[in-house]
Amino acid sequence: MAASLIRLHFHDCFVQGCDASILLDDSSSIESEKTAIQNDKSIRGYEIIDKAKAEVEKICPEIVSCADIVAIAARDASFAVGGPSWSVKLGRRDSTTANKNLATSDLPLFTDNLETLISRFSKKQLSARDMVALSGK
Ligand code: HEM
Repeated sequence: MAASLIRLHFHDCFVQGCDASILLDDSSSIESEKTAIQNDKSIRGYEIIDKAKAEVEKICPEIVSCADIVAIAARDASFAVGGPSWSVKLGRRDSTTANKNLATSDLPLFTDNLETLISRFSKKQLSARDMVALSGK
C-alpha cells in the first residue's frame, strides 16, 4: 500500500491544502472529494489512515490530526519500501469541509497534456521540475 498512501497525501494536499479533506464522506453539508473522477475507485488506503487514527486516539485522544497522520503515513510508507524519507512538520488542522469541485478542477487527469499538467502544478507553486521529481518512479 506504500504507493497508495503517497498518492492519498498528494490528492489531499492538492485540494484546500493538506487538511485531510479527502477523507470526508458525503453528508448534508459535504460533497465528498472521494467521488471526484481523479479519486473515484482509484484512491486506496483510507482504511489504513482510519486504523492509524484509532490507534493514536487510544494513546493520545483528540490531539493528532488526520491530516498529520496522512502526511506521516506517506513519508513512513516511502521509507518502509526503500524510498526516500523527509522531515514532516506537524500541526496540520483537519478540515471540516471538502470540495469536490476543486478536486475535479485541480487534480491532474490522465487525459491532460503537458501544458495543462504544468499549469496545474504551477497553481500550487510547484514548478515543472517539481512535477517531474514528484511523479518519478
Ligand atoms: C503529473 C500528473 C499526474 C497524473 C496525470 C497522474 C495520474 C495517475 C493515474 C491515472 C493513476 C492510476 C490510478 C488508477 O489506479 O486507476 C495514478 C496512480 C498513481 N499516482 Fe499519479 N498522477 C500524476 C502525478 C502524480 C504525483 C505527483 C504523484 C506523487 C506525489 C503520483 C503518485 C501516484 C501513485 C503512487 C499512484 C499509484 C497508486 C496506487 O497504486 O494505489 N502521481 N496517477
